[in-house]
Amino acid sequence: MTELTPYHEDQELDNNTSDNVHFSDILEQRMTRRSLIGKTASGAVALALASSLTACSDDDNDNATPPSKPVDPNKKPTELTFSVVNKNLDDIVTVPEGYQATVLYALGDSINPSYADWDDNNIPSGPSFQFRSGDCHDGMHYFGLNSSSKFDDTVSTEGLLVMNHEYINQTFLHPTGATKVNGRRPEEEVIRETNAHGVSVVHIKKDSATQKVEIVKNSLFNRRITASTVMDFAGAAASSDLVKTKFSPAGKQTRGTHNNCGNGYTPWGTYLTTEENFIGYFARSATDDANRSAAEIVALKRYGLKAGSSSRYGWETALGQLESQDLYDRWNASVVADQATADYRNGPNTFGWMVEIDPFDRGQNPVKRTSLGRFAHEDSACRAVQGEPLAFYMGDDSRGEYIYKFVSAANWDSKDVNGGYTAGDKYMNNGTLYVAKFNSDGSGQWLELSYGKNGLDASNSVYPFSSQADVVTFARLAADAVGATKMDRPEWATVNPVNGEVYVTLTNNSKRGLDYPTDAANPRNYADPEGGKGNVNGHIIRFKETDNKTTATAFTWDIYLFGSEAAMAANINLSGLTDNNDLSSPDGMWFDPRGVLWIQTDDGAYTDVTNCMMLAALPGQIGDGAATTAINGQATIAGAQVTDKTLRRFLVGPKECEITGIAMTPDYKAIFINVQHPGEDSASYDAATSHWPATQTDPKNSTARPRSATVVITRKDGGIIAGA
Ligand code: FEO
Ligand code: CA
Ligand code: CA
Repeated sequence: MTELTPYHEDQELDNNTSDNVHFSDILEQRMTRRSLIGKTASGAVALALASSLTACSDDDNDNATPPSKPVDPNKKPTELTFSVVNKNLDDIVTVPEGYQATVLYALGDSINPSYADWDDNNIPSGPSFQFRSGDCHDGMHYFGLNSSSKFDDTVSTEGLLVMNHEYINQTFLHPTGATKVNGRRPEEEVIRETNAHGVSVVHIKKDSATQKVEIVKNSLFNRRITASTVMDFAGAAASSDLVKTKFSPAGKQTRGTHNNCGNGYTPWGTYLTTEENFIGYFARSATDDANRSAAEIVALKRYGLKAGSSSRYGWETALGQLESQDLYDRWNASVVADQATADYRNGPNTFGWMVEIDPFDRGQNPVKRTSLGRFAHEDSACRAVQGEPLAFYMGDDSRGEYIYKFVSAANWDSKDVNGGYTAGDKYMNNGTLYVAKFNSDGSGQWLELSYGKNGLDASNSVYPFSSQADVVTFARLAADAVGATKMDRPEWATVNPVNGEVYVTLTNNSKRGLDYPTDAANPRNYADPEGGKGNVNGHIIRFKETDNKTTATAFTWDIYLFGSEAAMAANINLSGLTDNNDLSSPDGMWFDPRGVLWIQTDDGAYTDVTNCMMLAALPGQIGDGAATTAINGQATIAGAQVTDKTLRRFLVGPKECEITGIAMTPDYKAIFINVQHPGEDSASYDAATSHWPATQTDPKNSTARPRSATVVITRKDGGIIAGA
């Protein structure tokens, strides 16, 4: 039977041993409106929405409002009034009174009429998962679909819901969990697993009267992208020696995307998927260092693939009988041939990128946009202002890793909406990559990661950079070299459409104040009553670019929100959370186009009291709070304390899940969230600790397999989500 144990993201190693932190500098330092929407505002790609959204949406009946009127900023509620959802440990998605939660798309659900519905007792074949929902749903976006089959961000009644399938819960994906036979993973299981990774494109329709959402099962838009789908490289590392493999000796392509965690989307209407904990999928032999250069060994170690590493799922052990052996050999990153174009020593370099997918275009391969750097990518927020370069804000989710920004060389032109991969080439191949440094006085710098600048050349004593391909492929080493600030696991980023401020979740860091000294931007070290230490509950940092420009190389920052249990001391609970809004480990986060901030949790610290959750928030702006001091004596800068009118719990998920992925129809009448890995701590397939999603309609169900799933939430009266 299985030799494998369920994977948890917290198992990822710390790999940042660089000494670039400058804490002594920080400790020595002394702590010392809103823009017009049409002009700058528009945070996020939301801006593309803001520029074209109609106050009178396609399925509103308010004929008094002309359809071309820009979105009314007054749609942003002045306070949150929906009924608070209380913390709970129930095995169901709980939503406010007057709202309803409906399961839309769960693991294994078919998106092709030729494939039967999911059956717990008859797990579908591995190959059939090319036409079924993958596992561990994560980041997600809704793209309106107009009658010309194009992207249209005013359409709420029909759209493409695109989502990530981050990883897998082997316990429930297979009939009896994961197995090995004579030390090898059965090929059928490996095919099911690779196909259960990646991305789904799902065509949906929403009834304008009832708000009921359904999947259009026979749509040609429905599509799966998996850990085997052929993808192209573009940008700084494309065709470089670093990405040459047996599959693509010219370094132009690779197969698959995996560990797709947070997401992004572009103003021209494409989806961005991230490759987060990709490194654990590779094996490397114990003797492989003998075949590697000193620089290669440094780079492999910095990304967590030391000699002797085993792979998370053992895909490299499969014997190819249904598929080519090469499809499995590629997960072995050891040197086994006389040149890099004859093995997969560079396999790990072909993952860890930001990947662009045009959900409206089945004809072209997805594109790995390498100029945005290679790291444990988690999410991307694009800020677009007409006539100015685009900025993409991105986190590297691992303890002590960094926040990055890519600024396009080209100025944004809204005529490129529906430009597909051609627009991607224009805005994402050429530009400048930066990494953030946070100073203790509330200022910060974007440090440029360009070959030949800031010591990023062959003279670098840790890793000799030889090109921009080197810099982006080993962006972590470049960021170490320029002195970036080590953060508490940067997860999602989002831009406030009201004022352009950028928010980043820092989910937690069990080693903050221990291996990673505290600093003003990562200030807390304290004990959790249940035993954890460090930054137990996480926080959300925000920053404003100088002159509100995407191209700025400096910014100001404060900490919008500190996660905490309500009962914790005031110098831990620095945001003043109460039972109506206390949270731990913020992760997913998105400003909807009105300016309502949605915050989701992936927590293990407060789960003795409550399952993971989603909250709605109405943040102010940088500077609305004050300097303060955390329990451990570290000075920091906190945003204004919240009330339950400005931060309120909207949803609690089922047992042992993470709530992640947020999307909304432009009329604000349907919001989509993902429930990832319910029952993840189940000891075996026949001892499930959760029976969700079956429990959503049958609360007494005690037999169903837990499955990750997308949920759509609407109001029973058909009204605006979190509206008045
Ligand atoms: Fe996949 Fe960092 O969450
Ligand atoms: Ca996440
Ligand atoms: Ca706790």
